[in-house]
Amino acid sequence: MEKIDKILINAKDIKNRVAQMGALIQTDYAEKSPVLICVLKGAMVFYSDLVRQIDLPLIFDTISVSSYGAGTSSSGKINIIKDLDCDISGKDVIVVEDIIDSGLTMKTLTLTLKNRGAKSVKVCAFLDKPSGRRVDFKADYVGYQIGDEFVVGYGLDFDGKYRNLPYIGAISLDEGERE
Ligand code: IMP
Ligand code: MG
Repeated sequence: MEKIDKILINAKDIKNRVAQMGALIQTDYAEKSPVLICVLKGAMVFYSDLVRQIDLPLIFDTISVSSYGAGTSSSGKINIIKDLDCDISGKDVIVVEDIIDSGLTMKTLTLTLKNRGAKSVKVCAFLDKPSGRRVDFKADYVGYQIGDEFVVGYGLDFDGKYRNLPYIGAISLDEGERE
């Protein structure tokens, strides 16, 4: 069984950082009406906090994607399980993601959205794990950079659990549990 080893980022720090990120987006997108895309399910909690820190006429949308397994090469393919509802052509798009690890999901998704004719595509990720990168990818807005550890809470899961924790915790896994 896994267990929470330590609290990496507490709820108060999360709140302050999300407010800063929202303020930055509000400034950068002044006079605009960007489409904020929530990448389900991991970004749900971050997304719901972030949007309430941005005083702009935002358009909400959601997408659910699955990346191919770790064994597959950077083929540039993702599986869209639930697609967007709106047409993003000509729109300013901000993809809201929980964490960037290998970078494969965001690199591919942003390319897909650009190919649909979005006017601009930026990525706002709450966490960034640079040590996991397999492709060159940099998010435009990042809450925190973290080291090579597996984190849960604030939307992030292990085996479907822990998404509802109000903080980011690091978990330790028994041997063989970590892919
Ligand atoms: P990648 O950047 O394509 O490797 O995909 C990142 C996705 O992997 C995230 O959206 C998460 O769903 C998942 N992920 C990566 N690292 C963690 C972690 O430490 N905890 C929970 N999920 C993670
Ligand atoms: Mg995810």
